[in-house]
Amino acid sequence: MNVMKLIIVLTLAYFHIPLAKCTTRFNINLKHHIDLSYGSPAYKHCECGRRNTNQPQNTRIVGGTEVFENEYPWMTLIIGNGSRLVCGGSLLNDRYVLTAAHCLLRGFRQNEMKVVLGEHDRCNGDLKTVVFSVEKLIPHPDYHSGTNYADIMLLKLNMRVTFNEYIRPICLPNILTRTTTTIKFNGKTVSALGWGENDISKKVCTLHKVKLKLYHPIDCPTKVSTLLCAGISSGGQDACQGDSGGPLQILNDKGRYELIGIVSNGIGCGDKGFPGFYTDVARMITWVVKITTRDSMYCWR
Ligand SMILES: *[C@@H]1O[C@H](CO)[C@@H](O)[C@H](O)[C@H]1NC(C)=O
Repeated sequence: MNVMKLIIVLTLAYFHIPLAKCTTRFNINLKHHIDLSYGSPAYKHCECGRRNTNQPQNTRIVGGTEVFENEYPWMTLIIGNGSRLVCGGSLLNDRYVLTAAHCLLRGFRQNEMKVVLGEHDRCNGDLKTVVFSVEKLIPHPDYHSGTNYADIMLLKLNMRVTFNEYIRPICLPNILTRTTTTIKFNGKTVSALGWGENDISKKVCTLHKVKLKLYHPIDCPTKVSTLLCAGISSGGQDACQGDSGGPLQILNDKGRYELIGIVSNGIGCGDKGFPGFYTDVARMITWVVKITTRDSMYCWR
């Protein structure tokens, strides 16, 4: 210790000034903050494609196709000018919702749209929903409204999503997949979600699900390479196939739901034996990842 240091230390001691130390004292009350750190509840909910199975006791299933409240926490409601149904969608990560580009044909502009997460009964308000504005509408640059080629659109939300028990993303199909979706999942049971077609006079309030079978490309009556087909396997069922833009999902072998399709055109209500058309998400995945990867967080686990 040199002389100068000794003088300083003695001076501090004489005036009872404590030597500077790294203290761990900071009295911020973390109780009322949203905690997104590792191990926090929000981080714990950053899982993709996990459906909710713990159902509240007062939930009733009517007609076999209504889903449990918040059973599929990625299901997104897009509304325009107040409460008008624009489209369905799927939450992909903490900033983006995936939907169909033809939803733009409903005529609403970006600032007239809102995105509702955690929704089940769209006719009655509840405390679980979170409403976002749309910061950016990103339709696929090759979208063609005549054929519904590349009928896919990303919505960038105005703020980040905090995941919870009712709001979580769906998994994307494997980006490395080389076989097309239809060949990989041919004949498998898939399901489409929606609040019902909006051109039907009877308003559907609660989220519904319809079980479908994926068609082999040979049996799919379209020449549009970005579309795949799915239809009702057991005939006689008169079910709407959900809203435009909503998810066509499949349960993978890890017990997680993957987004394999987006409800596109040709979707009538219960035309027996005639399939609906869905945008093949696996085919469009590089575009989705390219747009979203820089400013959003995915839950890959
Ligand atoms: C939404 O409301 C605005 C303002 O009233 C109106 O100009 C617009 O046409 C409405 N959009 C649709 C699709 O109804």
